[in-house]
Amino acid sequence: MGETAKIDISGKTIELPVLKGTVGPDVVDIRKLYAESDAFTYDPGFTSTASCESKITFIDGDKGILLHRGYPIGQLAEQSSFLEVCYLLLHGELPTAAQFTEFEHNITYHTMLHDQFDRFFQGFRRDAHPMAIMTGAVGALSAFYHDSTNVEDPEQRMISAHRMIAKMPTIAARAFKYFRGQPFVHPRNELSYAENFLKMSFSVPAEDWKANPVLTSAMDRIFILHADHEQNASTSTVRSAGSSGANPFACIAAGIACLWGPAHGGANEEALNMLIEIGTVDRIPEYVQGVKDRRYRLMGFGHRVYKNYDPRATVMQKTCHEVLDEVGDSDDPLLKVAMELEKIALNDPYFIERKLYPNVDFYSGITLRALGFPAEMFTVLFAVARTVGWIAQWKEMIEDPAQKISRPRQLYTGATQRDYVAVNKRG
Ligand code: ACO
Repeated sequence: MGETAKIDISGKTIELPVLKGTVGPDVVDIRKLYAESDAFTYDPGFTSTASCESKITFIDGDKGILLHRGYPIGQLAEQSSFLEVCYLLLHGELPTAAQFTEFEHNITYHTMLHDQFDRFFQGFRRDAHPMAIMTGAVGALSAFYHDSTNVEDPEQRMISAHRMIAKMPTIAARAFKYFRGQPFVHPRNELSYAENFLKMSFSVPAEDWKANPVLTSAMDRIFILHADHEQNASTSTVRSAGSSGANPFACIAAGIACLWGPAHGGANEEALNMLIEIGTVDRIPEYVQGVKDRRYRLMGFGHRVYKNYDPRATVMQKTCHEVLDEVGDSDDPLLKVAMELEKIALNDPYFIERKLYPNVDFYSGITLRALGFPAEMFTVLFAVARTVGWIAQWKEMIEDPAQKISRPRQLYTGATQRDYVAVNKRG
């Protein structure tokens, strides 16, 4: 055995293997702990627990580093495209020109939905939150594409991956159109992934729609920034759901449900609402005091893993300026509030001591609003982008022989065994 860690418990010393990754912290392998010691470990929220082995994404939260298959997120956001990043996440390597052409064709030619699927949307109330529609509609995909639900077949796994990456923008745009009361717009194969999504979201039959290259490139970059983030809450949910052998569409629906929460994907909506509530720069000190008094949290700040500037926030801030300049909104008062709030927080001991820095959501709300999306759509866009990460992680889990059904244990602190008492005898 190589390096080991020793635990002294109940008068016994247990020796546990220490596993080494290519980078990142060592991992103590506790799989044999219960069998050898009759003890579990306790780690709510998995703050110190690696639930799997993965080759997809690496984060060094202290240094603010995010790598996909080894490539820094900044380089991918500046030089790659979302579809190329999708290929990279799914296959492990950047594609050759021929591989990319084939991949792009596969995605483009899977963007349409089954015609009957559209009737599914009509069942929702008009004022339904688009995320509620997403959760239901994506889960329903398994009813329409039964042929790609065999998780044991690698070819079917790849087909369902293509189907989901391709169809998610179509479903998201339909959720938006339904929410707005506008007719659905079908995908067009001559458009790029981001262009197609923007067209399906914003074009109306009453006028021609023209792609704006600055906004298209911003949308594509936003998708890249959200494509994967190793074992975050929604990804762990997808892996957990998939560990039982559930079909990939159902697993992604579970991920979407988890993403909806304000501590996760809902944070950009909350961050934008916070900036609107603050309204003007002069109200920032009062708001920051409220955060310090623990009346509320500074949304878009802090991260479970990053204890440094989120590298995605740097790209997002730049994208935010580009989009606001393009739409003629560079004087947006919310941008002023955001920049001033960031400056104040980064220099305040309360935030410095707790290592609270802006995360990707801090600037994404303002950017998405400038692109024309209402706050209700923000998490939906996150779900569109994260689908590839979820599916790549799900695929990796299925293909990993060490994976088992997710079944954590617990520290039980409830009543010990007692006898049932008839209702007329209860005090
Ligand atoms: N504002 C103010 N204080 C904060 C914030 C914040 N946004 N985040 C953490 N803190 C404080 C906590 O009060 C705590 O202080 P204490 O030690 O004095 O009690 C300390 O920092 C540590 O906080 P935890 O909640 O233990 O940190 P954790 O790692 O569990 O939380 C989380 C991470 C949930 C993201 C948190 O920072 C948060 O709620 N942020 C706001 C929501 C947000 O922006 N989420 C987006 C995450 S990024 C994404 O999903 C893409």
